Amino acid sequence: MGFELSVIGGAPTPGLAERWRASLVAHGLLCEFHPDFAFGAWSGGYLPIKLSVVPGSFPAAERYGADPVACGFEISEHPYHPDDPLPDPPELADRLRRASHLYQFRTAAGRDVGEFRLQCLGSATLSELVDGAVCDPQQGTYFFGPPALANARREADEYEASWDEPHQWKMSRFAGFVRSEDECMFETVPTQSSHPAFGRPAAVVVALMMLGLLLAGLMAYHLLRRPWPPAPPEVARDPLLSQGRGIFLMRCSTCHGFEGRGDGPLSGGIAKPPVANLTDAEWKHGDRPEKVLAVIENGVPNTRMDSWRHVLGPPEVRAVAAYVYYLARRPVPEELRKPG
Ligand code: HEC
Repeated sequence: MGFELSVIGGAPTPGLAERWRASLVAHGLLCEFHPDFAFGAWSGGYLPIKLSVVPGSFPAAERYGADPVACGFEISEHPYHPDDPLPDPPELADRLRRASHLYQFRTAAGRDVGEFRLQCLGSATLSELVDGAVCDPQQGTYFFGPPALANARREADEYEASWDEPHQWKMSRFAGFVRSEDECMFETVPTQSSHPAFGRPAAVVVALMMLGLLLAGLMAYHLLRRPWPPAPPEVARDPLLSQGRGIFLMRCSTCHGFEGRGDGPLSGGIAKPPVANLTDAEWKHGDRPEKVLAVIENGVPNTRMDSWRHVLGPPEVRAVAAYVYYLARRPVPEELRKPG
């Protein structure tokens, strides 16, 4: 069954999509939208989104895994004319009276948990940015202000909790990580139940659907990859640095920033100690390769620099450490090039 949420509020202003993306980060949702997306300019239809979830940001965050997932929903926009009588309370009526724009977010019956979470949190955060309200047309209910966010989080948490069996937790995800600029792996997590009554025609339909998902995911992946700046030639021709760059952009740039200057989208919320600028002259924890490897593997206690040993294997840690030297414009130590 289709599900719709609408946001009723002010018309889009320049940069609204970027502010929307930034407010989703505060809820642990790191999104890359299709590069052509802008409010007011998206001709309507499915918006592909590459979603990475920040561990610990909501109860089921861990179940998303560390890899980005492909998801999205349908967005359409229309002019809005308030009709009388406007619903109570007066603050809601005021918001609707000032509103001129309707943003509709739709998902279909096959929605996955990520799509539902983005639909809920996306409409709640957008409603604040356009000084409006969220409307659930199925129930005829409205939400605005902090209760809209609280309600969105609760709905998404409950939806995720209702999928308790691992095989029901179906998502299209990007497995592994980018190994080099051109090589990547994509895998669809099985969606099929092993129920004996599952007949052959149904299996064929599911197989075709999975193939469709896989192709859609690959296409979305290629479209969504674009926002990453191309690798400089000295990185592109060095397999270790290319691998390190892929890991760094995927895992570390949320805090350390694309260039390692400590200015990633999450850095604003991290006060003490601040996210390290990896390009400055001083490395607080030492610049010997074994020190840098130890920081990445073990993290720094009582800071937001987590241990990565359960996420990255030793070769990946060496590759991302090498890339940190590259960002700091220091020579890459030879030890990082050999296993050991
Ligand atoms: C959630 C935010 C966050 C993420 C993600 C993150 N870091 Fe950090 N990192 C920090 C913070 C905060 C510090 C500063 C710790 C301190 O002051 O002791 C830091 C410090 C470091 C340092 C030490 C710098 C110095 O001056 O000695 C290195 C190296 C580093 N991070 C590498 C990485 C790598 C590689 C990744 C990805 C695999 C990563 N970080 C992911 C927050 C983060």
